[in-house]
Amino acid sequence: MNKLQFFLKYLIYKIFAKHKGGNAIHSPFLFEFILDIVNEKVPYYAMDDIWNIRKDLLEDKRHITVTDFGAGSKVMKTSQRKIADITKHSGISEKYGELLFRAVVRYKPKTIVELGTSVGLGTMYLAMPNSKAQVHTIEGCPETADVAAENFYDMDIENITIHIGNIDTELPKILADLGQVDLVYFDGNHRCEPTLSYFTQCLEKAHDGTVFVFDDIHWSAEMEAAWATIKKHPRVKLTVDLFFTGYVFFRKALSKQDFVVHF
Ligand SMILES: C[S@@+](CC[C@H](N)C(=O)[O-])C[C@H]1O[C@@H](n2cnc3c(N)ncnc32)[C@H](O)[C@@H]1O
Repeated sequence: MNKLQFFLKYLIYKIFAKHKGGNAIHSPFLFEFILDIVNEKVPYYAMDDIWNIRKDLLEDKRHITVTDFGAGSKVMKTSQRKIADITKHSGISEKYGELLFRAVVRYKPKTIVELGTSVGLGTMYLAMPNSKAQVHTIEGCPETADVAAENFYDMDIENITIHIGNIDTELPKILADLGQVDLVYFDGNHRCEPTLSYFTQCLEKAHDGTVFVFDDIHWSAEMEAAWATIKKHPRVKLTVDLFFTGYVFFRKALSKQDFVVHF
């Protein structure tokens, strides 16, 4: 998918996506999701702290050598990359990071797994709302993981474990040690087959209240194919497409429905 096609898709989403204020929504669960997570604007001190780290990262002129196990970047093509550029192009945006933060506040997951750490911004949004939650994050590039570790240290965050290695090999090991997963953020290796493989593996540890969050569901034809397959899975009840990210819920009490919600 080229840049123009992607932009047109986004434009169509922005024009036609509905339910901004929760209007025409009959499911109380989804109504609450839209009001308390999608539209909520209450600030938290931790969000300012993450903002300050983001600002420093965006000014960080150090170069690191990047090892890429995934689908690669559409923008950065060399292995020597400036930390500022990695942050700008790979790190979660403030808007979607704060959305993750609110999801953690609302659903109170105790065991969180993130696939793809990068410099750790998403990880901080997942870990900071609750210091008692355990966050496992996987990053294939050791030098990128070092930058993330520096940030967690600077922020005094102790509830994050970074697993350095390929998600293909690290995820099965992590899942084997976990009884269940409460929230999984899929944000590494944006290709169809790996995404579906990670989804299937995590599903084995998912329960009624588990939330899966998929990043970049419209990033490529492969990611759109993965998202379409996930939506159809019999265990998936409710999906919410917010364009740059998709939320998946498994609650048996919900009827099977897919929504595209304006964000
Ligand atoms: C989009 S970035 C993650 C951004 C981060 N989750 C955030 O919210 O700021 C994707 C990261 O996944 C890593 N990655 C991609 N494929 C991987 C794989 N197969 N194994 C391990 N890491 C991988 C890349 O090195 C990159 O740092």
